[in-house]
Amino acid sequence: MKDENFLKENNARHLWHPMGHPGDAQINAPKIIKGADGAHITDIDDHRVVDAVGGLWCVNLGYSNDVVKDAIARQLYELPYYSAFAGTSNPTAIEASYAVRDFFAEDGMSRVFFTSGGSDSVETCLRLTRQYHRLRGEPTRTKFLSLKKGYHGTHFGGASVNGNNRFRIAYEPLLPGCFHLPSPYSYRNPFEQTDPSKLAQSIANAMEDEIVFQGANTIAAFIMEPIQGAGGVIVPAASFMGLMRAICHRHGILMISDEVITGFGRSGHASGARHWGVKPDMMCTAKGITSGYFPVGAALMSDAVAEVFESDTTGEGAIFHGYTYSAHPVGAAAVVACLTETLRLDTKTNAAARGTQLHQGALKLAEKYDVIGDVRGGHGLMTGIELVSDKAAKTPMDNAVMKRLHQTVYEAGTMVRLGMHNILMSPPLTITEAEIDRVLDALDTGLASL
Ligand SMILES: Cc1ncc(COP(=O)(O)O)c(C=O)c1O
Repeated sequence: MKDENFLKENNARHLWHPMGHPGDAQINAPKIIKGADGAHITDIDDHRVVDAVGGLWCVNLGYSNDVVKDAIARQLYELPYYSAFAGTSNPTAIEASYAVRDFFAEDGMSRVFFTSGGSDSVETCLRLTRQYHRLRGEPTRTKFLSLKKGYHGTHFGGASVNGNNRFRIAYEPLLPGCFHLPSPYSYRNPFEQTDPSKLAQSIANAMEDEIVFQGANTIAAFIMEPIQGAGGVIVPAASFMGLMRAICHRHGILMISDEVITGFGRSGHASGARHWGVKPDMMCTAKGITSGYFPVGAALMSDAVAEVFESDTTGEGAIFHGYTYSAHPVGAAAVVACLTETLRLDTKTNAAARGTQLHQGALKLAEKYDVIGDVRGGHGLMTGIELVSDKAAKTPMDNAVMKRLHQTVYEAGTMVRLGMHNILMSPPLTITEAEIDRVLDALDTGLASL
């Protein structure tokens, strides 16, 4: 490894970072993380903190899972790579497809298309919904509906259904035929509705209205996160996803549940859709599927969707889509080990308990600090704290203040993530009660310093 001074001074000379300004990275050095253990990370100054971000909503098993590490290492020696494009497969990928199918069987999923990450999984689902309708003789169904504040990755399809304009504007024009409904964000919404159930109904009405306006026979799919993550941890009313499911069903529109964050136990249930008692037609997954130890994603299909492709005899059902690393054997080994560990450790139960602890702690902080406008979470280990400079006017907190807070919290022992004027937290699902207390203490220190 190059020495610390070299790393600090030259870190961004050749390295461009996702979601950052290349010029800014050369002036403000990023935190350089050199190691990790359990729920902790250590930077090159040997400062060790609790990682309340879980890498990037992904290190569900924490950083020290030897079962997953050993499985990856073994697979590297057995078969480091072989293509899964039509005509060849590998034993570990087949095993992984059973593991994923079993994990999501209760959600009605039965087929798995492996990808290299979340954006790939979203892209796969969007494309396959169009092909599904063509196969069924409805080729006019090409449009997509989604929610404002939703995050669905950065490919052109995903960015087009994305509901946060800072991920869109620089890359427009995006895909035509994508329409966005209001988010179930009760703190701010165009209906000025603070009651989550009434807001859910208002959005459902807006969805019906949009479908009538567009024509149901032009819409391929509706995509949503069961709990919006990157948009600020926006938790809808318990009725919301079911209402949207019923509308989709009524109009022949496929429902894609984007489970890239909520899948694999983060919400306190195996999947976000199951959390709300909904069975979608497709799911996009990634992140927790390997706990971030290897880049893998998976698009999942229900039996009914699969049947349309598999029963096709015209050749139109062939999937001319996929990635060099789809069903990568090393990724597949990580998937099998990770899902085995996820079940053995029952991480969803800990996620629910520790998520409640974190949420309650954040609510206590809100009683103490007026800069906290809204606290969201309480459904597993996803917590959002929205900061405002004027509580009555709900004025979003200034970016410079957010950055200062981030640094103070870090110095006090916890890494959090900023999403605009929100503090976002998604620690490993294996995090302990004492570690959550440490996260809350660090937040308290940071907020007191403002
Ligand atoms: C809900 C959701 N979908 C899709 C993605 C994109 O995943 P990736 O960054 O692995 O491409 C993310 C990433 O955070 C996500 O949160």
